[in-house]
Parts: sequence; C-alpha cells; structure tokens
Amino acid sequence: MGTVILIVAMTIFIRVAEGQGQESWAKRVDTGKKVVTTLQFYIHDTPSGPNPSVVPIAQAAGTINTTTMFGVLNMLDDPLTVGPNPTSKIVGRARGLYGFASQTDLNLIMVMSFWFTDGIYQGSSLSLLSLYPVMNPVREVAIIGGTGLFRFGRGYALAQTYSLNSTTAISGYNVTIVTYV
Ligand SMILES: *[C@@H]1O[C@H](CO)[C@@H](O)[C@H](O)[C@H]1NC(C)=O
Ligand SMILES: *[C@@H]1O[C@H](CO)[C@@H](O)[C@H](O)[C@H]1NC(C)=O
Ligand SMILES: *[C@@H]1O[C@H](CO)[C@@H](O)[C@H](O)[C@H]1NC(C)=O
Repeated sequence: MGTVILIVAMTIFIRVAEGQGQESWAKRVDTGKKVVTTLQFYIHDTPSGPNPSVVPIAQAAGTINTTTMFGVLNMLDDPLTVGPNPTSKIVGRARGLYGFASQTDLNLIMVMSFWFTDGIYQGSSLSLLSLYPVMNPVREVAIIGGTGLFRFGRGYALAQTYSLNSTTAISGYNVTIVTYV
C-alpha cells in the first residue's frame, strides 16, 4: 500500500518536473485574438527625370534583346503618401528591389519593405515578396511579415495605377494585414 502510494507520488512528481522542464524553454498560449489592419496609401515611383527614386543596379547582357526587360534589377526608395498628390502627407517609404522577372510579359518580382513613419505606425514595417503583373488593372501582392505593430503580420495588397507620365507612376495600395494580440 505504502509502495503503491510512493510510486504514484513519484510518477506525478516526474510528470510535473517534465512539464516544468518543457515550460522553461517553450510556451504555448492560445489567445485566439486576431487584429485586422487596413491601410490605404499611394506609392510614387520615379524611375527617370532629375530626381529618380528608382535606380537600375544590374542588367543581364541579353536584356537589350528582350521586349520585357528580363534581367533588369532596380533599387527603390519611394515615398508613400496619404493621398495621390505628390505634396500629400508622407507616411512612409517603400524600400527594396524589383526586377523584371518574365520572358513573356511585364512581370516584376518585388522584394521590399514598407517602412512607416507616421503616428502609431512609426518605426513599424511590412515585408512584401511577390510577383507584380504590371499590365493587370489591379495587381495583388503578398505581404509575408512585419515588424513593430506588424509583428507576425500577413496579408495582401491590391495595387491600382492612379496616374502615369514620362517620369512617375503613382499607384494606390489597399493593404489588409492580420496580426495577433
Ligand atoms: C542581341 O541580338 C543580336 C541579333 O540577334 C545578337 O547579335 C547579339 O549578340 C545579341 N546580344 C546579346 C547580348 O545577347
Ligand atoms: C481601394 O480602396 C478604395 C476606397 O475604399 C476604393 O475606392 C478602391 O477601388 C480600392 N482599390 C482597389 C484596387 O481595390
Ligand atoms: C509627372 O508626374 C509627377 C507627379 O504628379 C510630377 O511631379 C511631374 O512633374 C510629372 N512629370 C512630367 C514630365 O509631366
């Protein structure tokens, strides 16, 4: 009888000790709380003119023989504004790379961050990694992560050209991001 109690007590003690050992390096908490953030802003992309915000940094030898600019890689640092006007309030920057990734149509591979500078989002960022079919009236891109208020952020953006001239393309972005409390 005494032995049985002892064995049961030891088993419980070992189980508790094992549980505590696991908790010391790993912890799971299911809060089930989801936050949906929607953002609307405009990107001003200026590849030419006196003050370009996009510069070519590499190009394949064969690019000149393509109709799709296949093999061109650009670095960008574009302002993000609240409204479509270039003098509208700046809320962040789009910084990173886009390359011409298709041999048959105009399709970019975008690898960039939206770095926000306004309000509670100051210092938070979203990471975008996606193809961008230039000729589609609406381009959907994947947002695969974030920092600051956007930690664990995932979602998508719908982009639509607002205006286009010889130096600047202005596109509206509607972004939907899910994060967790
Ligand atoms: C481009 O095409 C021309 C004509 O076919 C060819 O002579 C030239 O070598 C090609 N250039 C490159 C860099 O592939
Ligand atoms: C973005 O949102 C605005 C305002 O709700 C809407 O007018 C516009 O059509 C949306 N753009 C896209 C590409 O969904
Ligand atoms: C193109 O549009 C931008 C933004 O609206 C403007 O600042 C620029 O002066 C325009 N350039 C030309 C050549 O029209």
